[in-house]
Order: sequence, then C-alpha cells, then structure tokens
Amino acid sequence: MNKESYVDQMKQWTEDLLKQQETFIDLCDQREHDKLAAWKERVEKFRDSLNDIEDIEGEQLKKMAEDLYLEGEQVYTGISFTQPFNELDLGEVQFAERQMAVPIGQHKLPPLPYPYNALEPHIDQKTMRLHHDKHHRSYVEGLNKAEKALQQARLVNDYQLIKHWERELAFHGAGHYLHTIFWEIMCPEGGGKPSGELLQEINDAFGSFAQFQKQFSEAAKAVEGSGWAILVWAPRAHRLEILQAEKHQNLSQWDVIPLLVLDVWEHAYYLKHQNNRAGYVEAWWNVVCWKQVTKRFNEAKKLKWKPY
Ligand SMILES: [Fe+2]
Repeated sequence: MNKESYVDQMKQWTEDLLKQQETFIDLCDQREHDKLAAWKERVEKFRDSLNDIEDIEGEQLKKMAEDLYLEGEQVYTGISFTQPFNELDLGEVQFAERQMAVPIGQHKLPPLPYPYNALEPHIDQKTMRLHHDKHHRSYVEGLNKAEKALQQARLVNDYQLIKHWERELAFHGAGHYLHTIFWEIMCPEGGGKPSGELLQEINDAFGSFAQFQKQFSEAAKAVEGSGWAILVWAPRAHRLEILQAEKHQNLSQWDVIPLLVLDVWEHAYYLKHQNNRAGYVEAWWNVVCWKQVTKRFNEAKKLKWKPY
C-alpha cells in the first residue's frame, strides 16, 4: 500500500473514532465528559494533520495513531476502540495492508457478490432479494443492537439483562457471519467438485467426494427446524467435519475462534463448590493461564476476513 492510501485509511479510522466518541459522550458523567472532550480534540487535530502529510514519516504517523489509541483506552477502561494499524512496514513508501476492525455496533450488510438473478434457475431472484435485503439485514441490525447494549452494560456496570443480550449477540451474530459466508460460497458458474488439496482432505475425511456430498445433504435435510449444514476445518483434529447448526447458533457465533473457555457444567465444580457456581467462577480466574490464551490469540488473529 502506498502512503496516500494508508493516509486515506487513517482518515477513515479517525472518522470512526469520532463517531464512537459521539456514542460514548451521552453515557458519561461530567468528569469523564471533560476527558473525552480533550481526547476528541486531539483526534480531530490528528485527522486535520493528515491533510498535510508531506513532512510526516510513516513511523511518526503510526506512533501518533497508537498514542491516541492508548490514550483512548486509558480514558475509557473497558471500551474497545477501533485499533489503528499496528503492523506497518516502515520502508520508504511500502505500508502493510491492514483491514480495520469492525467498531462495536457497526457491522454492515455486505453487498451480494453477483446480481440477484445470477443463481437462476437454481435459486430465484425474488428469494435472493428477500433473503439478502430483508433477512440478512435484520441480523446485522440485531447484532449491532446487542453489541451496543453490552457496551452500555459495561459502562454502567449493569448486567441484569446479560442473558438476553448474549442470546441476541449469538443469534444475530451467527446469522450475520453465516450469511456472509453463504453468499460468498455460491456463484453462477458453480457446481462440480473441488480439486487439489481440498479434494484430498475430503477424500481422507469422508472416503470420497460422493460420500461427503451424501452425508452433507443428509445432514442438511435432517436439521431439526431451521438451521444450517456446515463443513468445517477442525484445527485440533487436522481434518474436515460436517456439522448441523440448529437455528444459527445455540448461543455461539460461527466463524469465530474460541480463545478462553470456562466449563460451567456441574461436573466441573460440584465436589468442591456444590451448587455455588459463582464461587467457582470467581476462584477460576486464579488459574487462567494467560500465556496459553495469548498463544491461541496470536495464532487466531492471523485469520482475518474482509470486515462486515
Ligand atoms: Fe438465511
């Protein structure tokens, strides 16, 4: 990426930050309000300075963005801000390309990668329009709403509705992520079968392509109520698997990678804590091995799809 397009992305980043600040400002008390206003001023100044970058080195630019980001985190502990690009190649004009994170509550409906009628006669235009424009959009809106509600819960430290919002987060998040994959894995010139390494993996895991296709179809037909059939890669088993998802989720989102997990089945704590799950959860934090969580995070963060 050249310096100009990097600067354009930086401008977009500051615009996103300023938008986020507008949301927070309504939720703050006076003392925080002043701190936020001071920070906002600095972000605006940084944005304006991007219009005149002749004399600014890439490294300097990166440092300024990171300082602003860190300052924002300090002012608002517990709020996730859009991060600046932090893996720049600081050569003369080469800048590493980095996709921006989706800010909280700002997922977008991805455009269909082909016209609505492109999959005719197999999938009709009317269905595609309704499915993409109405149904997928409502998942995006529901996800944004849930994320904002959880952000507010963190701000005011009120978790009375945690169960409701986590459920909404999973339902709409899984809906949004799965549909985003769904549009991408179809195309007008589709059909047939894969080749190369993927075909090899399919053969290894399911015996043959025909057997894979049969199991996948049977799984899809047998999903109880509404749901999905999903071919997944299991990083632990190093092979492919076919799963069903009822509705979209069961309180999970698809297209995410678990980093930190806590088993709250009774068998995990009953002998020591009996029915006191809260006591177990509190105690558990003392044994979390962040070194391992970090290791998983460092591997997982390498996988980044285009954000929506
Ligand atoms: Fe759907």
